Amino acid sequence: MKRSALYPGTFDPITNGHHDLVRRASGIFDRVLVAVAANPNKAPMFTLDERIAMARKVLADLPNVEVAGYSGLTVDYAAKHGTQFVVRGLRAISDFEYEFQLANMSRHLSKNYETVFLTPKEQFTFISSTLVREIAVLGGNVNEFVHPIVAAELYKKRRVT
Ligand SMILES: Nc1ncnc2c1ncn2[C@@H]1O[C@H](COP(=O)(O)OP(=O)(O)OP(=O)(O)O)[C@@H](O)[C@H]1O
Ligand SMILES: [Mg+2]
Repeated sequence: MKRSALYPGTFDPITNGHHDLVRRASGIFDRVLVAVAANPNKAPMFTLDERIAMARKVLADLPNVEVAGYSGLTVDYAAKHGTQFVVRGLRAISDFEYEFQLANMSRHLSKNYETVFLTPKEQFTFISSTLVREIAVLGGNVNEFVHPIVAAELYKKRRVT
């Protein structure tokens, strides 16, 4: 049986930490769908279309990975795609509390929903989209944390903000 997994997130923008996680998931599952949440409540820096386009380019090296946008409940989106496995990342203990609560709430909403936690390579544990955005806006160098395509997009935003 072919096994697929959903990897949901805001990806505002996609970082090297996200890429590391998707690469690991793509080695475990036959197919990985990276689901970019519209998440208007988070007031993202990049539009949904921009986030999807960047993720597609950055993940183009992984053949069994697809990228799509969604809005609404992640459990509903997973059910629509016939997948029960959802990948999430744990960088540190600080992620654990929220992720544990989210996993349990999701399983409460949809009983077949299974959250699979992956950890990134050590060098990616301190990367978050929020920090990368902040560094870029304040004039810092983000080349170590994101793909060159993403760095270029961040620098473009810096010029217009
Ligand atoms: N560097 C990383 N290593 C491992 N997992 C990560 C990393 N960055 C994010 N994740 C995980 O990826 C999933 C989606 O994350 P999300 O899109 O919120 O990214 P983020 O970097 O946490 O962004 P933000 O700072 O905007 O919340 C979450 O499960 C998150 O824990
Ligand atoms: Mg986050």
